[in-house]
Amino acid sequence: ARPYVFVTRKCSEIELQPLYEVADIEMWPEEETPCPREILVEKAKKADALLTMLSDSIDKQLLDQAKQLKVVANLAVGYDNIDVAYANEQGVVVCNTPDVLTDTTADLTFGLVLATARRLMEASDYVKNNLWKGWGPLLLAGHDVHHKTIGIVGMGKIGQAVAKRATGFEMNILYHNRTRNSEAENTLGATYCSLDELLISSDFVVSLTPLTNETKELFNMDSFKKMKNTAIFINAGRGAVVNEHDLYEALINQEIAGAGLDVFLNEPIESTHPLAGLHNVVALPHIGSASYETRHKMMNLCAENIALVLKGSAPKTNVLTK
Ligand code: GLV
Ligand code: GLV
Repeated sequence: ARPYVFVTRKCSEIELQPLYEVADIEMWPEEETPCPREILVEKAKKADALLTMLSDSIDKQLLDQAKQLKVVANLAVGYDNIDVAYANEQGVVVCNTPDVLTDTTADLTFGLVLATARRLMEASDYVKNNLWKGWGPLLLAGHDVHHKTIGIVGMGKIGQAVAKRATGFEMNILYHNRTRNSEAENTLGATYCSLDELLISSDFVVSLTPLTNETKELFNMDSFKKMKNTAIFINAGRGAVVNEHDLYEALINQEIAGAGLDVFLNEPIESTHPLAGLHNVVALPHIGSASYETRHKMMNLCAENIALVLKGSAPKTNVLTK
């Protein structure tokens, strides 16, 4: 029989073509509403492969029931939703989508820097809500981005692409990472420093660090207190690296000046979420890699990876347990 693949969200059939050639595919038909857990587990029981979203939890409990499963391809570069160590132990290959989304995610991240600093969302609402009565010297004045210091926490490929954009704005670039990134240092002039030094010195603190046990709530009241009162915090990585209550307190107590957030602890958030109610917060619905071009490439890479594993070959981009 042909292998059976379950795709947990509506994806482009054209991009999944490599998969249609080798397998029977079933797709959860909704674009935004996730496949309920019970259904995902039922499908996983008979699946040879799963094409998953970052909102699907691929944990021990699911993996234990997925006896036929050979590969999980996550439509994301991050994979904190998957118990990779346990999957690998069970012989299940885990794939992600690095590289294809690097520049797109860096564009959005730098967009958040600009939108938050220059108050673009507030300014646009001002016009659309018919509040614009005339030009004013300090009307919707914000903070400069050019020539300021950007501190990037998590200097992987996306961090480096953000740093590259920052050079165009003639910014001073600091970074903190588990390992030194000599390419960013040599080609972009980025300076490595401790997290504390970065927090103290940066005008923009940008988090792109993956979520691990070590980075959970890395940004908390202690960190926000170390930042300048004029600092802007940007998070385009994972929500759980921030203590959201502390971030809220830091914003209302003016420990920091603003925040641009593409990710949250529990997604989706509602408009009643405390952070969404602050005028100096730009809140986006986790759209870092969301361009048509890139999302299509991500779908295609997932399909290629699954097809390769089902054919007994090595996938293009798999995640290994450290
Ligand atoms: C998005 O957050 C991703 O990990 O690709
Ligand atoms: C603003 O539009 C200016 O001319 O300074």
